[in-house]
Amino acid sequence: MPGLSKLVEQITPSMTIAITAKAKKMVEQGIDVVGFGAGEPDFDTPRHIAEAGIQAIKEGKTRYTSAFGIDSLREEICKKLKEKNRLDYEYDQIILSSGAKHSLSTALQAICNPGDEIIVPSPYWVSYPEMVRIAGAEPVIVKTEKDNGFRITAGQLKEAITGRTKALMLNSPLNPVGTVYSEEELQEIAEVAVEKDIFVISDEIYEELVYDDARHVSIASLNPQIKSRTIVINGMSKAYAMTGWRLGYAAAEKEIIKAMGAIQGHAISHPSSITQYAGLAAVKGDQSVVSRMVKEYDSRRRYVMKRLDTIEGIEYVKPTGAFYLYISLEKLLNKALGGQVIDSAMTFARLLLDEAEVAVIPGEAFGDNRYIRISYATSMEQLEKGLNRMEEFIGRLR
Ligand SMILES: Cc1ncc(COP(=O)(O)O)c(C=O)c1O
Repeated sequence: MPGLSKLVEQITPSMTIAITAKAKKMVEQGIDVVGFGAGEPDFDTPRHIAEAGIQAIKEGKTRYTSAFGIDSLREEICKKLKEKNRLDYEYDQIILSSGAKHSLSTALQAICNPGDEIIVPSPYWVSYPEMVRIAGAEPVIVKTEKDNGFRITAGQLKEAITGRTKALMLNSPLNPVGTVYSEEELQEIAEVAVEKDIFVISDEIYEELVYDDARHVSIASLNPQIKSRTIVINGMSKAYAMTGWRLGYAAAEKEIIKAMGAIQGHAISHPSSITQYAGLAAVKGDQSVVSRMVKEYDSRRRYVMKRLDTIEGIEYVKPTGAFYLYISLEKLLNKALGGQVIDSAMTFARLLLDEAEVAVIPGEAFGDNRYIRISYATSMEQLEKGLNRMEEFIGRLR
């Protein structure tokens, strides 16, 4: 067989796969594993959205659309951006895609040249560094501080910028931590981005999932200078429980969207027409389906925090967004169970799965081997069962 590309040698398959695959195998064997790994809502897609997809099939809306997606949904997204995010875009500044992940990689391909640097604050969502590499650029990982909720500061950004920096990957609410950037923090970051003339790729996929006093602000809404340098990325997966439908979008300057359309047109043509009509029903329809889910996530969040507060040896940053908790294992590292020393989050996650049948994501996936991420996008019963097991497991460490 001829050799594969040099590119694939640089790409690491998702580090979470080993744990997730093992957990899945255990479930298939009939073992009652509690899964805290999921990065997706446990709710079904709201009925009226699913029905719109079925209707699209029945009505024969099953043909090619424009590479940018259907105009009705692009228009509807403009309205949403204006009303909710104080952002003025024309419909031709919007491109629909097969998920926020897809928009992120198309955006990177549209702006990156070989040797360009993309600043990726750590902890980061597992796919960012790999997506940057696939686009031919280099991820520059900037470690953020626990005391600042793992949000990059304007100072840290400024320090990391070189003559080769092309963009900052910004994610708020932040996966895996669940913290949310304040307007002031974004203002400071925007000033640096404008001064140094770099793009901001603003991944706002968790925008609807905010709690307490947290408020989602799009960095692009702060002033025209930062807006012209920002590619806003969002999608339907998390807000409308539509992960499997695959629908995302990007909003940016016309020139950028045009470039993304050219790439997308040759790669996938466009996201599924059926999915686009379901997405139209999602954005146009009753938004109380979203607030109902957010309310449920919030009570789970409170429950998990209350339980974690009583478990000795772990700490976490209080999340006010998304559906994750990022837990520090620093006080547990070097403890052991049955002769097995916990030297990293990966070891902790493996042991927790083997001994207590609870699956979590080790922080190695996010760039820090002293943390684990748990997701509360699962039922209260599962949360209670899993946390009982985790508490008992941690109590056994010596
Ligand atoms: C930060 C972040 N961005 C993007 C995505 C991808 O979303 P989509 O399903 O729309 O591709 C995820 C999914 O987990 C995510 O956590």
